Amino acid sequence: MNLPVLDPLPIDEAPREGPLIDTFGRIHNNLRISVTDRCNLRCTYCMPEEVAFMDKRELLSFEEIARFVKAVAPLGINKVRLTGGEPLMRRELPRLVSMLSEIPGIHDVGLTTNGILLAPSAQALFDAGLRRINISLDTLNHEHFRQLTRRDGLDDVIAGIHAAKQAGFHPIKINAVSIRGITEHEVIPLARFARQHHLEMRFIEYMPIGADLWERDKVYFGREILDQIETHIGALAPAAKYDPKAPAQDFDYIDGGGRVGIIASVSRPFCMSCNRLRLTAEGRLRNCLFALTEIDLKPMLRGKTSQDEIAAIVRGNVWQKWEGHEINTARFMKPDRTMHAIGG
Ligand code: 5AD
Ligand code: SF4
Repeated sequence: MNLPVLDPLPIDEAPREGPLIDTFGRIHNNLRISVTDRCNLRCTYCMPEEVAFMDKRELLSFEEIARFVKAVAPLGINKVRLTGGEPLMRRELPRLVSMLSEIPGIHDVGLTTNGILLAPSAQALFDAGLRRINISLDTLNHEHFRQLTRRDGLDDVIAGIHAAKQAGFHPIKINAVSIRGITEHEVIPLARFARQHHLEMRFIEYMPIGADLWERDKVYFGREILDQIETHIGALAPAAKYDPKAPAQDFDYIDGGGRVGIIASVSRPFCMSCNRLRLTAEGRLRNCLFALTEIDLKPMLRGKTSQDEIAAIVRGNVWQKWEGHEINTARFMKPDRTMHAIGG
């Protein structure tokens, strides 16, 4: 066979221009920013009851976050999502949303929230330019909510969902973590609730990150979720814009009753199409949810480092990105940080 021979690029030499690319050819346009590690829930799969949160002085200010985003927008970062902990624990979040929406090149700002504090701020967030909103909700049962999150608050989350609808968000995505024996029985009630209220229900396979002892057996697989829904609710077909490489595989009810998304991080890893980069609440750059190393950018964002220098560091970090998380192999190593300190 006559294959073209390419000059391999040395690993330490990231391109100095063009898109934010790694050695596997993945182009990065998507930045997830954790704005706090604090949370008003204690989801058992995410964090322990007792947590030492970061000193607030460690958190990047909105200005420092915006400085980072201004440095990476020229590299092709055009989508940003705010996460936590619980991002709405950060006062004045709508101010950050509008600061980020105004940065040239950023045309999409999203938020992942547990919904507890959403009702009072949904309208302000919408008015600040937020359009994409994901609300995490694993159960509609008060007692089970208390067990899973170690707190009360289901009614607040439901009020938050209604307030988000009222404010004009569409679509609204509801994220549920899928754990065998634990949330397996929530699939149908959640899917029915989403259908009834015109929400997009998304199920995320339980990942080995967070506080709980993860075992592969505890993952309730995407295929099983789809089977349950098709048996008890109705037939699904891959959505028209079905993208086999996207993290969420979307399916539409064939009766027109809405959409269901499956994020099969374990049974169908999507590392090879990953376009994401993360900034932690205290200003560390992570090129993967499961990364074992980070780059501390805070001194640079607080100091006099130029935007070009920050951009060069980001290019280098993306260039060094590994192939993927290898959850399904014996080589997998769980990062030290729990999910609330990374940002989901
Ligand atoms: N596996 C899958 N999803 C998780 N989340 C938190 N921990 C895990 C885990 N171990 C989800 C939350 C929320 C999002 C931020 O990440 O439920 O939807
Ligand atoms: Fe808080 Fe989200 Fe973690 Fe639950 S999963 S404890 S809502 S950060």
